[in-house]
Amino acid sequence: MTQAATSLLPIVILISGRGSNLQSIIDCAASGALTVKVRAVISNRPDATGLEIARAAGIATEIIDHDLYADRQSFDHALQARIDQYQPGLVVLAGFMRLLSEDFVTHYHGRMLNIHPSLLPEFPGLHTHRRAIEAGHREHGASVHFVTADMDSGPVLLQARVPVKPDDDPASLAAHVLTQEHRLYPLAIQWFAEQRIFLDANGRIVFDGQPLTHPRDLAREQPLPC
Ligand code: GAR
Repeated sequence: MTQAATSLLPIVILISGRGSNLQSIIDCAASGALTVKVRAVISNRPDATGLEIARAAGIATEIIDHDLYADRQSFDHALQARIDQYQPGLVVLAGFMRLLSEDFVTHYHGRMLNIHPSLLPEFPGLHTHRRAIEAGHREHGASVHFVTADMDSGPVLLQARVPVKPDDDPASLAAHVLTQEHRLYPLAIQWFAEQRIFLDANGRIVFDGQPLTHPRDLAREQPLPC
């Protein structure tokens, strides 16, 4: 193994569907700008098209079909056991659309990230683009946060802001946000890989040695060259 290979952060990515964020992570890792090794992609849905993206990139894939488990706890147990076989330094939720139990989240405390298509704490949950338009918001976006037991919550480290135009509909707004997501998530993961960002003992984000009082804004950051 080369020196470069040993310094790559091992990650496992969880998906439920399309996998466009997965693709952006794979592309950035392939370019060398994102210093991670994707050890596995795990889906809770057998038909997730993101599984094809992972296979095409030569990444191990696993399916843990939630329909085959009696309850959330047994599903989460199986998922955790499978993830841990790959010994990731970071678990990356990329369009993973299952609620996770407190035990599961606690097990990965400080080493699990999620991306969500809103400017959290606005609009956790589903249909974020439609809700932002209906609320008359002029600005919308996406957030990367450390995962805690509450859905789409947890300390936010990085956000991308997108204007809501008068003629936007949920589909056009979703497309604009998604373009930003593909720049946002690799940068946040790279910060974690470089240990620039972590959770302290009180569950607060530390960024470059300082407490992070507000999420960083992608527009003010140096994007990854990928
Ligand atoms: C992305 O927009 C992501 O932010 C969202 O699901 C989509 C997955 O797209 N995640 C959530 O809503 C989490 N609550 P992708 O499969 O093409 O990456």
